Amino acid sequence: MSNIIRTEHAAKTYAVGEITTRALKDVSLNIPQGSFTCIVGPSGHGKSTLMHLIGGLDRPSSGKIYIGDTEISSITNTDLARLRSQRIGFVFQFFNLLQGLTAIENVEIAMMLAGVAEPEQRSRAEKLLALVGLAEKAGSKPGQLSGGQQQRVAIARALANDPDILLLDEPTGNLDSVAEAEILDLLQDLHRQGKTVIIVTHSDEVAKRAERIIRVKDGLIAA
Ligand SMILES: Nc1ncnc2c1ncn2[C@@H]1O[C@H](COP(=O)(O)OP(=O)(O)O)[C@@H](O)[C@H]1O
Ligand SMILES: [Mg+2]
Repeated sequence: MSNIIRTEHAAKTYAVGEITTRALKDVSLNIPQGSFTCIVGPSGHGKSTLMHLIGGLDRPSSGKIYIGDTEISSITNTDLARLRSQRIGFVFQFFNLLQGLTAIENVEIAMMLAGVAEPEQRSRAEKLLALVGLAEKAGSKPGQLSGGQQQRVAIARALANDPDILLLDEPTGNLDSVAEAEILDLLQDLHRQGKTVIIVTHSDEVAKRAERIIRVKDGLIAA
């Protein structure tokens, strides 16, 4: 199976004033296409930093990151933004939905940003909300939805442009165990449909579902 994501000696140092933090020190990893991978490790050890690098949200201080055949650390911001919107769907712990918009509008806006024509936006957003089990909540705003429902809207939004990779950072970190199990079932379905699913988590329940586990410790891959 080919690797959809690779890193070669990726490192990231943050500098804030006089203080520098070596969040990632030297990370080389491969993520096979179509796999279900969890990145686990203690808080503050570099998991989110790694996710931002492999998703092209940030650039490494040194080393290389590949999405498919593209070495993303050397392409322009415009090309990187295009690659992200075509290939990657992001989901975050606190959902990051726009509070003033309805569920369906939150999904549509991701398509609008990618240049999808308006009539198609609505029909695809309806299908995606149905896929995540929220067809009847299309007109609800985030504040009218439970945490688990909000995260399902966020997953529908992440799927808006039919990415082949889903990157999720602590997607169940703010949910109870029932809602967590529902989100994991949904992610497993998406994996069966061919998506590459990568979840950053410190939850054992989440890691139990993974085919592959990558452990991050102190900015390095731990054995
Ligand atoms: N934008 C940033 N600026 C400065 N330091 C950061 C930034 N993001 C993360 N860090 C630091 O990098 C380290 C790793 O953080 P992070 O990747 O968020 O860890 P995790 O996701 O495993 O909790 C921590 O010491 C954190 O404080
Ligand atoms: Mg984190």
